[in-house]
Amino acid sequence: MDQPLPQLDSTSPPAAPEAEHAHGVLRDSHERVIHDLRMSITDRCNFRCVYCMEPGDRFLPKRALLSASEYMTIVDAAIALGVRKVRLTGGEPTLYPVLDTIISELGRRNLDDIAMTTNGSLLDPTRTARWKAAGLTRLTFSLDTLREDRMTAITRSKTRVADVLRSIDVAAETGLARSKINVVAMRNFNEDEFADFADLARERDLDIRFIEFMPLDSGRSWKPGRVVSETEIIEMVSARHALQHRDPKNPHSTSRHYYFADGAPGRIGVIPSVTRPFCAACNRLRVTAEGAVRPCLFSNTEWDIRPLLRNGGTHEDIKRFLVDSVWTKQAGHSIGAKDFQQPDRGMSAIGG
Ligand code: 5AD
Ligand code: SF4
Repeated sequence: MDQPLPQLDSTSPPAAPEAEHAHGVLRDSHERVIHDLRMSITDRCNFRCVYCMEPGDRFLPKRALLSASEYMTIVDAAIALGVRKVRLTGGEPTLYPVLDTIISELGRRNLDDIAMTTNGSLLDPTRTARWKAAGLTRLTFSLDTLREDRMTAITRSKTRVADVLRSIDVAAETGLARSKINVVAMRNFNEDEFADFADLARERDLDIRFIEFMPLDSGRSWKPGRVVSETEIIEMVSARHALQHRDPKNPHSTSRHYYFADGAPGRIGVIPSVTRPFCAACNRLRVTAEGAVRPCLFSNTEWDIRPLLRNGGTHEDIKRFLVDSVWTKQAGHSIGAKDFQQPDRGMSAIGG
């Protein structure tokens, strides 16, 4: 017999002021407007990156995951409320059985950007070309080392660096926009490779983004001392290649951008989530694989939209739910403060 679905210890959000519903946009009580929806379409992953998941972590039963049409019901409500960009994340989104259907459906909507974050282990040219034809704009790859021995230690998988580099080439050959590479920067872990990543950016015209290690690892090994700060990252890269800072075109960008002073291709970004949080400019809303609406990566409350989806909620009901949820978005996170509470979910169960 089927086990009962795990209960989310969350419910519906409290009602936002009625005026918010009349505005027809997703705006929070700190006056930030949401344009970017991040959907984790599965919590499953074939990696067990040390900063994210532990080997013993359990996955949701398949029927707890939203279906493609349930995701699209959320997306349509979000678009009606002004969302312009959708990013598919996981877990590892390429493991989601009907990923292609979701990308095709997204491609039929009026969106500026359809992106996906992947570990790059399961891409092939045919699949990637199908996604591009369906409307995928770009891929972001997670890759934290260029050394094969470290790759095994970090991801606890059999995927090789060479496999991911091949997938990165496939993305370029397919004609997707310049790929982003996420590198989680951790002390005594990969900081001796930052300049090598800059070489890679120059060689392949990539956007390398170093992310400060955040307390979102299910193993709870995060400590302030393991964070390599933006200042240090830039110093390490600059020791090999002079960099020039440039303000991003997008005011909601979470990363600080640098170009190579000698005009070489590629770009370096730093996401200083810990040392210089960008919460005031955040325009994001997250939905997890089982339909928990999370206004913030660090939310300690989340709102369960699945019952509404499965009990015949209308387009207007879903819109109301999203407006109410966004109204509860917290001002920011307090990583490093005494009262900081690490969310119960790890990154793989939230979606990056
Ligand atoms: N701190 C910082 N970044 C993380 N990611 C996963 N876990 C963490 C963490 N604890 C990154 C991965 C992935 C992105 C979605 O989030 O690199 O690319
Ligand atoms: Fe999987 Fe991404 Fe988590 Fe690594 S960081 S275990 S690739 S979900």
